[in-house]
Amino acid sequence: MPWRVRNRGQYMILRRALSPQAAWVAEEPDAGIVGFLTLQPLQDYIDHLFVDTDWRFCGVARGLLEVARQGATGALSLDVDTENMGARRAYEALGWQVVASTGSTGKARQMRLVSP
Ligand SMILES: CC(C)(COP(=O)(O)OP(=O)(O)OC[C@H]1O[C@@H](n2cnc3c(N)ncnc32)[C@H](O)[C@@H]1OP(=O)(O)O)[C@@H](O)C(=O)NCCC(=O)NCCS
Repeated sequence: MPWRVRNRGQYMILRRALSPQAAWVAEEPDAGIVGFLTLQPLQDYIDHLFVDTDWRFCGVARGLLEVARQGATGALSLDVDTENMGARRAYEALGWQVVASTGSTGKARQMRLVSP
């Protein structure tokens, strides 16, 4: 997310998200971990979803989101940066819907999406 590259606080947010919460990783036998997702289980809220650039458009995010959805009590939700057109197109292809504009994190404007 190049528009956030100067925001070093993102690394601390990710470190915090990875310690107490649920996380899934996608692993390929010859490549190791190729993607991950972190979830706040009680809220069914996805904090982070990332797929290695070499493994995009291979269904990794779809698989991670399906596993997270199976363990959730209801629909999943997340916030996506409005500038993140790649992710927005991916969520649209997966049937997610925009439910609100959720203000900003630092300089990034975001929108709230919910899963099917
Ligand atoms: C967004 C991201 C997670 C998608 O991961 P992915 O593994 O490539 O997605 P999938 O292969 O499971 O694709 C799911 C669907 O979205 C579509 N899609 C994925 N990326 C897309 C893009 N950049 N543009 C258009 N469509 C896209 C796929 O074609 C697929 O649709 P289809 O089944 O109808 O063909 C990945 O690009 C990424 O890690 N981006 C950087 C981090 C990020 O932005 N995370 C999200 C923060 S909210």
